[in-house]
Amino acid sequence: LSRSRTSSIDLHLDLAASPARGRRAALERTLREAIREGRLAPGSTLPSTRVLAGDLQLSRGTVVDAYAQLVAEGYLTARPGSVTAVADNAVPTPSQPAERPAPVARIDLRPGLLDLASTFPRAEWLRAERAVLRSAPDASFDYGDLRGAPELRTALAAYLGRARGVATTPERMVICAGFSHGLAMLLRTLRLAGVRRIGMEDPCLPAHRAIVADQGLEIAPIPVVADGISVDALEQSGADAVIVTPAHQYPTGFTMSSVRRIQLVQWAQRTRGLVIEDDYDGEFRYDRQPVGAVQGLDPEHIAYVGTTSKTLAPAVRIGWLALPPALVDPVITANQHGSAVPPALSQMTLAHLVDNGRLDRHLRRLRLNYRQRRDMLLHTLTEAAPTISITGIAAGLHVLADLSSAGTTEERVRSVAERHGIKLAYLTSHWHGPPATPMQGIVVGYARTPSPAFVDVINDLGGVLRAALAANDR
Ligand SMILES: Cc1ncc(COP(=O)(O)O)c(C=O)c1O
Repeated sequence: LSRSRTSSIDLHLDLAASPARGRRAALERTLREAIREGRLAPGSTLPSTRVLAGDLQLSRGTVVDAYAQLVAEGYLTARPGSVTAVADNAVPTPSQPAERPAPVARIDLRPGLLDLASTFPRAEWLRAERAVLRSAPDASFDYGDLRGAPELRTALAAYLGRARGVATTPERMVICAGFSHGLAMLLRTLRLAGVRRIGMEDPCLPAHRAIVADQGLEIAPIPVVADGISVDALEQSGADAVIVTPAHQYPTGFTMSSVRRIQLVQWAQRTRGLVIEDDYDGEFRYDRQPVGAVQGLDPEHIAYVGTTSKTLAPAVRIGWLALPPALVDPVITANQHGSAVPPALSQMTLAHLVDNGRLDRHLRRLRLNYRQRRDMLLHTLTEAAPTISITGIAAGLHVLADLSSAGTTEERVRSVAERHGIKLAYLTSHWHGPPATPMQGIVVGYARTPSPAFVDVINDLGGVLRAALAANDR
């Protein structure tokens, strides 16, 4: 690939026909097309902003802004004081047809999915794994502590204290294979201790209902309110434990207020109940200070569960429990036979990434990218449907768009989206029984689409909303 500097002439840029105010957009469009069509190859450098501005008789600020926008979209890369170049992964490489079955839908905007090509830090993981293999004592590869590798429990206890406000020690931590596995371990332990009924947020992730039901436990649906869950309803339900997502309720995206947090802790203390805190995307917070885990308020009554499924990749299958001291032995005893735990080598590799600050660095990079995506998504949705109300925007990797407020329905959006090959999640499937509110909504995940395609994909979603609204008028 040519790495020589592209000149303005090579770019075939002719903006003379564009109105003065539209020139920045025209420049961005021309560059995007040149990159997509391969006329600007990955790695090729662009003219400096001064040169291009001079050639095209634009202000330098216009060129600077256009470059910055394309950097944000993933088409270009720029380092301070360095040249601007076409990003190496600006255009996705076509995969071998034999390796991947034909996609049913062209675009997947369901929540909980990541852009696997850019999220998992392969090089960092490899470096960490090499370092571990060089230095780990032989004893690390023996049958080990049933709670998990001590290196990881120690690294996580410190990390969770500083990043999530979790109050724990390595002795109180148990490593599991992701949230779902950690939840199953906890539920099995509770069932063996005589627990029969589990409170669950209504609405919630449908897959978690199946995990509770698999343990033969009864589900008590607890209504979600704008600042958490109804603790009165929890009290009345007679549940012995409750599963909550306080940092970013799934799917509404609500954050549990401090008043609700205190009420929840008081419920647990009064009834000797257990709060199971699902902190699945707590690392991603954009507009204000991170909202800490509830666990820090009462580590004796709250079992905190974390996962690498959003921060690294779902296939890493490492999660962790920070347990009340009285639950550590029961959890180990209840799950010691036939319970899968992540391989020690992976656990030690993750510990290395946490200890040397690489995980923090990786998360800083992701936060920046997700925040830009979130902003683009909000802009496009509100432009398409000006009255739409969107929740869950301050954190995480998905938002809930209230279609009722936009003036349309799930059915209309679904029929247009399916025609356009767009997969979405719909609020209706998240209720335990008949919907508690007549509200209709789409749950939109914005972490899956690779950066270069993101703008177009989100514009397509805006088009779907517009078409669904237009169908109302017919
Ligand atoms: C609400 C919620 N909790 C937890 C998880 C993570 O589960 P696991 O760690 O088993 O992948 C997800 C993933 O999408 C989720 O949406």
